Amino acid sequence: MCAKVVVQKQPMTTEMVAIKVFHKRQLAYYTLSKKAKSTFAECLARERDTLVAITESRSRYLTPLFEAFQDKHNVYFVLKAYPLSLSDLISLMRDLGKRLTPGAIKFYASELLVAIEQLHSLNIAHRDIKPDNILISSNGHLALADFGLSVRIPPDDQRPFTKQIRYDAVGTPAYCAPELWRADVSKKGYLVAASDIWMYGAVVLQMWLSKRLPFFSPEGEDRGVMFDMYQLVEDPVVADFLSSIVHAPEDLRPYIPTIKAHKFFATINWRSVCSSFDDQERSR
Ligand SMILES: Nc1ncnc2c1ncn2[C@@H]1O[C@H](COP(=O)(O)OP(=O)(O)OP(=O)(O)O)[C@@H](O)[C@H]1O
Ligand SMILES: [Mg+2]
Repeated sequence: MCAKVVVQKQPMTTEMVAIKVFHKRQLAYYTLSKKAKSTFAECLARERDTLVAITESRSRYLTPLFEAFQDKHNVYFVLKAYPLSLSDLISLMRDLGKRLTPGAIKFYASELLVAIEQLHSLNIAHRDIKPDNILISSNGHLALADFGLSVRIPPDDQRPFTKQIRYDAVGTPAYCAPELWRADVSKKGYLVAASDIWMYGAVVLQMWLSKRLPFFSPEGEDRGVMFDMYQLVEDPVVADFLSSIVHAPEDLRPYIPTIKAHKFFATINWRSVCSSFDDQERSR
């Protein structure tokens, strides 16, 4: 949401922090131009509340908020600083003519899956999972960031979180699940947890292929291009893993426990990936 992030040293200490700055005037224009139903103040309050919930949960793979404040012109979120994003890492490797190794991809894929699991356990869907919004700490661990499009869905007797439906199709087009592109999405809705899982598959595919992902055909928004991209993956286990996610319709798409059990993750020790938080990793 049209924010600028600056990474700098805290004035009183030597700690690095990331400050996400929202210009109030720009935001007012943004929401007006998008004919948004909610005001920028509501959107920001939602993002801040999500960050507060995440921070209180001490979830290992979600970016914590240190503080939020505002002045006349801007709103500021002070966050834990990360040296690079997954997008930076993929580009860097590509520029060097290299690719992430299968071991590194499985490692990041396992941490990202646990990040989504932790977020969903708080009844929050991210809705904008992509390499730009996945950060890497100086210790080499992932953290999911940017909760500007996230939505918190309170528990409900009728439906568990995984069956919750939303009608507002938001996200970054190249990573949006196919069901969000249906003309009748605002009437029929989409399964919000399953759409996060599709974006997860798209990110793992991108790591594997080490390509920029226009998931578009030159003619336009042809989602078929995306469906076929996993066929570029030569390893049959990886191809099966990815196709099971990106090929499946939303109601049959595997959810986190099934994904964890796939052969792709045979070498991953889930207990250690999910283990309780190491204070050093979280420390400011
Ligand atoms: N805590 C952080 N530490 C270091 N860099 C960060 C941090 N948070 C965000 N960034 C960098 O700033 C970029 C923009 O941040 P963020 O995604 O939160 O803002 P945004 O304006 O909502 O993004 P967009 O609309 O482009 O998805 C990220 O892609 C990342 O590269
Ligand atoms: Mg972002």
